[in-house]
Amino acid sequence: MLNSLSKDKPREILNIEYKGNSEIGKREGTYHDYNRLNNLTSKEWIKFQKSWFIINPKSRKKDVMMHPAKFPEELIENFIRFFTKEGQTVFDPMVGTGSTLLAAMNTNRNAIGIELSKKYANVAAQRVNDESEMMNNSGDKNNIKLYNGDARMLDRIISSNIDYCITSPPYWDMLREKGFETQKTREKMNYDTHYSEDGRDVGNIEDYMRFLDELKEIYLKVHSVMKIGGYLTVIVKNIKKGGKIYPLAWDLTKKLDFFTLKDEKIWCQDNVKLAPYGYGYSWVSNTVHHYCLIFKKE
Ligand SMILES: C[S@@+](CC[C@H](N)C(=O)[O-])C[C@H]1O[C@@H](n2cnc3c(N)ncnc32)[C@H](O)[C@@H]1O
Repeated sequence: MLNSLSKDKPREILNIEYKGNSEIGKREGTYHDYNRLNNLTSKEWIKFQKSWFIINPKSRKKDVMMHPAKFPEELIENFIRFFTKEGQTVFDPMVGTGSTLLAAMNTNRNAIGIELSKKYANVAAQRVNDESEMMNNSGDKNNIKLYNGDARMLDRIISSNIDYCITSPPYWDMLREKGFETQKTREKMNYDTHYSEDGRDVGNIEDYMRFLDELKEIYLKVHSVMKIGGYLTVIVKNIKKGGKIYPLAWDLTKKLDFFTLKDEKIWCQDNVKLAPYGYGYSWVSNTVHHYCLIFKKE
């Protein structure tokens, strides 16, 4: 049974300070003081400008295996390094097992995360705590905050001045589709095959147009807490369902017209076992890329 929608304010479950290790001046290439966006050297800046990249997620540790769609920290770190300076604040309204929080710690930034599922939020909190114990470096103090609750209520806990938001929503209700990607293997291993039974979980919305509208409402709130000039990156995939394509990346882009779309970067995975879908009769791709949509609040 799905819970009914509630207007509860997200509950703070973690608020810790850590001392990170500054990366400034420690990398290859020249850093220019007039760089207002980030701490990258010219070499690193150019490298990130390529419109596609390959990152093959490493095999996951047991604690995060139960989450159906965890993202590699390395990917998020690269975006955080480009769109913020050290000490700035990164936000993820659907933080899952906390990859954005860990990535912020590894790059010496502050971060705020919200996650609806208590189970995943607890995993995220544990991961942040473990990481901070291992860090204990001599740099400036940074802060990580984590809330358990509905992203629709984000403006009740965040006032403003978010420098950068990077996030990935559920890919509609695809995890509930029979035979979706690795579902059978996950069932066998006793891992979660979908995020939750919660009515507030946008991954439980069956109607595609309603799903898009709900995401739009959440990103409108994200827009309201971001500083002017700040960027938002949304990682999504176009979706195949019932023999039809739903271009989620493009439909969402159209919905988010209160941001300025700046570009996309395409994340390719090159270690996925290919299946012979449609063999001998029809074109059906093995979709092994995601869109990292880049928006700006102007
Ligand atoms: C694609 S996953 C994010 C994965 C995350 N980037 C990671 O690496 O672990 C989407 C997440 O959105 C969460 N979610 C769904 N509806 C939500 C809502 N209304 N508010 C907050 N989180 C929500 C799900 O529980 C799920 O963990």
